[in-house]
Amino acid sequence: MTVQQAYQAGLAILTDAKQPRFQQAGLLFEHVFGISRSRLPIVFSKPADEKKADEFLSLCRQLQAGTPLQYLLGHWGFYGLDFMVGPGVLIPQPDTEVLVETALELIKHSHLHCPVVYDLCSGSGCIAVTIGKQIPQSKVYALELSDQAFQYLKKNIKKNAAANVTPLHQNVLTPNGLPSADLILSNPPYIPTGDLAGLPSDVRQEPVMALDGGADGLSFYKEILRLYFNLLKPGGWLAVEIGYNQGTKVAQLFQNNHYCKIQMRKDFGGNNRVVFGQKPLET
Ligand SMILES: C[S@@+](CC[C@H](N)C(=O)[O-])C[C@H]1O[C@@H](n2cnc3c(N)ncnc32)[C@H](O)[C@@H]1O
Repeated sequence: MTVQQAYQAGLAILTDAKQPRFQQAGLLFEHVFGISRSRLPIVFSKPADEKKADEFLSLCRQLQAGTPLQYLLGHWGFYGLDFMVGPGVLIPQPDTEVLVETALELIKHSHLHCPVVYDLCSGSGCIAVTIGKQIPQSKVYALELSDQAFQYLKKNIKKNAAANVTPLHQNVLTPNGLPSADLILSNPPYIPTGDLAGLPSDVRQEPVMALDGGADGLSFYKEILRLYFNLLKPGGWLAVEIGYNQGTKVAQLFQNNHYCKIQMRKDFGGNNRVVFGQKPLET
């Protein structure tokens, strides 16, 4: 079998028209053979290593069966950094980069020089590690309850040499032992329980614990906004990622819990994606 034949056999497996199969096959091909898609025509006529061809075709079959591409590759990019991912951990999403942008903006405009930051429901650690790397003088606490996700969190802190990020294997609903924060960030589970079954098949491969936001999808916002008000320094900020249609309800929750200067930020698709508010200087 030549390299070209192996590649074409992989493409033939990926018949699901919803997926950009040339791009996905190219990424899997590069992952297994170490040959980038742009170099494929140069090596097409060479014989393909048999074991690698088998592995490539096996990954194509798993992708076709609904396993997320990112799990097959074992890593994925976020805000210019690379994060290890696999079953049991949520894949970092571009929408979450809006939360990171908001956080960096708040740190800059509030002149926070050595901010204490929490990342609640940290998963892969993509938020915590990115803030830790962007603001080296920050002290970031990354809280995650899932055993599987916590392993990825620890690995990603190490992989990205983010020594200022402390992983905490903790339930965010029972906070303890944390110093007061300047900034609290969270991308919690926010899908209403009843909507989980209707999610696309690849998203349903991600852990339910990372997705299930309770009956109305708002359980974590209600608890986090209430529980963490007292852990925030006066003048400190709390910012959360939200589902595309949750902006008004979550902003109302900020108001009910006495936060001020409540604002939203949109994602690249034009949907409200982040809500944030400040703990008043005098409470
Ligand atoms: C939507 S994912 C976000 C992951 C990551 N922050 C990101 O943006 O990609 C939510 C995360 O919350 C974690 N989680 C769910 N319930 C939790 C709890 N009670 N305490 C701590 N973490 C929890 C899940 O395991 C999952 O990793």
